[in-house]
Amino acid sequence: MLSKKRRRVERPRSHPGNRYSEKPPDFELLASLYPSFQPFVFVSRSGRSTIDWTDFDATRELTRVLLQHDHGVQWWIPDGQLCPTVPNRSNYIHWIEDLLSSGIIPKRNNDDPDAKVRGFDIGTGANCIYPLLGASLLGWSFVAADVTDVALEWARKNVQDNPHLSHLIEIRNANGGSCSNELRTGSEGIADMKVEAPEDCYCGPPILVGVVREGEEFDFCMCNPPFFGSIEEAGLNPKTSCGGTPEEMVCPGGERAFITRIIEDSLALKHRFRKAWFTSMIGRKVNLKFLVSKLREVGVSIVKTTEFVQGRTARWGLAWSFMPPNIKSVSLPSSEKSSYSFMLQGLKGQNRAFQTLKTVESFFLACGSCRSDTSSFSVNVIMSNEQIVDLVQKNLCDSDLPTSVSTSIEHSSGDQNFSISVFEQIPGTLLVKGSLLDKESPFAGVFPWIFQLLEKTLRREIVPKLHGQ
Ligand SMILES: C[S@@+](CC[C@H](N)C(=O)[O-])C[C@H]1O[C@@H](n2cnc3c(N)ncnc32)[C@H](O)[C@@H]1O
Repeated sequence: MLSKKRRRVERPRSHPGNRYSEKPPDFELLASLYPSFQPFVFVSRSGRSTIDWTDFDATRELTRVLLQHDHGVQWWIPDGQLCPTVPNRSNYIHWIEDLLSSGIIPKRNNDDPDAKVRGFDIGTGANCIYPLLGASLLGWSFVAADVTDVALEWARKNVQDNPHLSHLIEIRNANGGSCSNELRTGSEGIADMKVEAPEDCYCGPPILVGVVREGEEFDFCMCNPPFFGSIEEAGLNPKTSCGGTPEEMVCPGGERAFITRIIEDSLALKHRFRKAWFTSMIGRKVNLKFLVSKLREVGVSIVKTTEFVQGRTARWGLAWSFMPPNIKSVSLPSSEKSSYSFMLQGLKGQNRAFQTLKTVESFFLACGSCRSDTSSFSVNVIMSNEQIVDLVQKNLCDSDLPTSVSTSIEHSSGDQNFSISVFEQIPGTLLVKGSLLDKESPFAGVFPWIFQLLEKTLRREIVPKLHGQ
């Protein structure tokens, strides 16, 4: 009998754009540079410099020095307020950066290269961490909303203490909403959604509808919601002390109710925020599943999820948009991008993703060497320069080979590695994504052309087959 193959469960890795992904903070160095941090640093039994993660003062001081040292940001929060860990929070920012650059939905200000990315941070907290990171790392501007006096006061203070960023961040009181809630109860609002059990209903202050102003536009919204339904549920993690008051951690119905309200609001705002990504962090996997099905119920066109590295605690990211996916996202040629994607829509029948993966595999087996991994639904491809030239020649219709592609071929040498992955976004819609290992290589100029060839092949071979089923 064949032994059952053990599936390798890969831990999510920190985002490669995260400055701490390769090199975690050097406590010894920070202690030598910042005397106020020094008393908190000691050498552990394993011989490494560390801090006591259960000491709020130590974790707050670490966040303060990391923001100052690595981001040039002055920062403080009062005792007991939720203290963010900078490396963890950076992952969410970089994930949004990826979503914005993925080309899955067109950019809001496509025709203006100087346009600034603008985000809405729901529940910015006293720490105001996401706007401070987004503005300092990427120059994004933000509306940062909260509802408690302490959060609003300290978020404002944290912004004012950074004059180089203060023009980018507006702190807004979500309690003082001026717009009506009619939007949400109108024809596209919660009236369209199934009524939840009362314990799942959010009954707090406005979140987006009633806080977003007439004429405002955003590229994304983000949220680290109050995760818990009660203070007992919130409990205390004895291994860390990141603070967190009941107002920050708890809301009736917990994150499920809170994010359900964000979904309702996004539905009401979908025409105004046409080209926006709505996103939220999620604390429990069971809620991720619930919220993904909620999104399908309300008919969003794109859903993306990710898992964040948060030390020993798992967290998930959920993103959605009402924008029809941009199927012409492959642009030729661009050596700045390392990944490309397109959608195949309206597919029927069983095993759609698997059949598509097999077609991708045969496409590349015919011209290079490749190995498919059905657990991650991806095909890893290696092509030599000769094989690339061969593929180009066989598929050449001279007029559609841009000169820059032939130049890139001339300058490429050695084997080229890339991977193609297939995943089902919503039933019947597959996202096919191609990722280059080395985006600096001259091959980066050829890859979009090959990827477009793959797209044409799939549209010719697999789409009619799966439409007909
Ligand atoms: C878990 S904390 C997140 C703080 C910060 N963003 C972070 O990641 O550390 C949740 C925040 O949401 C705020 N909040 C609760 N209801 C809200 C609402 N309706 N609109 C805006 N913020 C809200 C709370 O006051 C709290 O500051």
